[in-house]
Amino acid sequence: MANSLTRTKSIDRLMADSGASSESGLKRTLGPLGLIGLGIGAIIGAGLFVRTAAAIAERAGPSVVFAFMVAGVGCAFAGLCYAEFASMIPIAGSAYTYSYTTMGELVAWIIGWDLVLEYAVGAATVAIAWSQYFNNLLRIMHMSPVPYEWSHSPLETMAGTGTHGIANVPAILILFLLSAVLIRGTQESAFVNGVIVITKMAIVLMVIGIGWSFMNPANHTPFIPEATTYTTPLGVTHPFGGIMGILGAAGVVFFAFIGFDAVSTAAQETKNPARDMPIGILGSLVVCTILYVLFSYVLTGVATVADFRGAGSEASISFAIQKYMTGYTWLANSVTVAILLGFSSVILVMLLGQSRVFYSMSRDGLVPKVFSDTHPKFRTPWKSNILFGVFTALFAGFLPDSIVGEMTSIGTLFAFILVCAGVWILRVKRPELQRSFRVPLVPVVSVLGILVCGAMIYGLGWTNWARLGVWLVIGLVFYFSYGRHHSLLNKE
Ligand code: ALA
Repeated sequence: MANSLTRTKSIDRLMADSGASSESGLKRTLGPLGLIGLGIGAIIGAGLFVRTAAAIAERAGPSVVFAFMVAGVGCAFAGLCYAEFASMIPIAGSAYTYSYTTMGELVAWIIGWDLVLEYAVGAATVAIAWSQYFNNLLRIMHMSPVPYEWSHSPLETMAGTGTHGIANVPAILILFLLSAVLIRGTQESAFVNGVIVITKMAIVLMVIGIGWSFMNPANHTPFIPEATTYTTPLGVTHPFGGIMGILGAAGVVFFAFIGFDAVSTAAQETKNPARDMPIGILGSLVVCTILYVLFSYVLTGVATVADFRGAGSEASISFAIQKYMTGYTWLANSVTVAILLGFSSVILVMLLGQSRVFYSMSRDGLVPKVFSDTHPKFRTPWKSNILFGVFTALFAGFLPDSIVGEMTSIGTLFAFILVCAGVWILRVKRPELQRSFRVPLVPVVSVLGILVCGAMIYGLGWTNWARLGVWLVIGLVFYFSYGRHHSLLNKE
């Protein structure tokens, strides 16, 4: 039994599988710029435009700027490790595939299962954020917004009125629509993604540039609020301010960095993965970190913590511009449109990442074959796209963004820790393997990655630890009742 849990898939075997699949499975169409585009398309989204306001309101105030730095540093360490893996094992499946070759089937399963939190639950979070800005768009166009009940989860209540949400219908619809786009194929999606990435970057730069002159120094004083606590509308009490506030906020805004690793799930669709993967992963990460630090500095300078606890808790960027940046209604309006497009591209990449991970797991026999059946004409894993469209819609329709957002963060942080450990393990176990990109200073970088990501998990607090624990237990039940017996390695 111990053997079966630690059985690893050999790298040579992985490469053979990959070669086979490039003929019969996924098409190779992406180059380095396409990958950076894919990365930025996946990275800038709800984390910046929605979850940052929550981190300011509930955890850290202006010191969210430091939270972005902590999260960026953690991602840089993990990103280096991802890049080494991706240059060595250029195969769809991301952290899941890497761990299958290094830490054995059980750990691989745990990661694959955990990545559902990152990609599918992450897509659900962005869909909820999309719904907020969609309502904002309707208001801008002088149309009536979707009523509160039909644009919020049953766990949310409108302040002061007692009106409860029933289901978040816009969030459900956007997930269905984008699942349909994915079924048609990634080549078309990559082109649309390119246009959206440029729009999104332009908006972020404009908010930084124009907002700079609207900053009020009083909002930045004190820059790190004194340590106290804050109880959220859902009744959860977090540390606010001080070091714990920054760590908690780092866990929340870590969401804003998720996505650079989705680049690695596209390895099987990349023309020259050994060279282009590290460029795609690290390039997109560096660009986004710089933008985030500047953006959060400006945002906390323009609006107050009280704003983000009240009316500015939804569609926060557009709210801050409208309230404080007189004469820039056009910016608030174009931000809303650009954000809606941007969120769509993020959802697309996350759903794509999800279907790719389950594609690999299904080819290994760990999840049913339905997840790797490709469409005869579009050559996409269409049945998987449909199933995850429904799964993500359930999360987005019936849970608030704070719960799904923080679940996404903690799940991804956990996966990153395993990837950092994996690089180190593989250096020891298989030093001879060719790596076209090598992480400098292993094991120092691995250990630092584990420590920084671990600190953010710690900052997220016990409600999130409990949710991650429950999720992993459900996963283990699946593994022991299905995956372990159906694994292809088992059959051999
Ligand atoms: N990083 C992505 C976002 O912020 C998931 O929306």
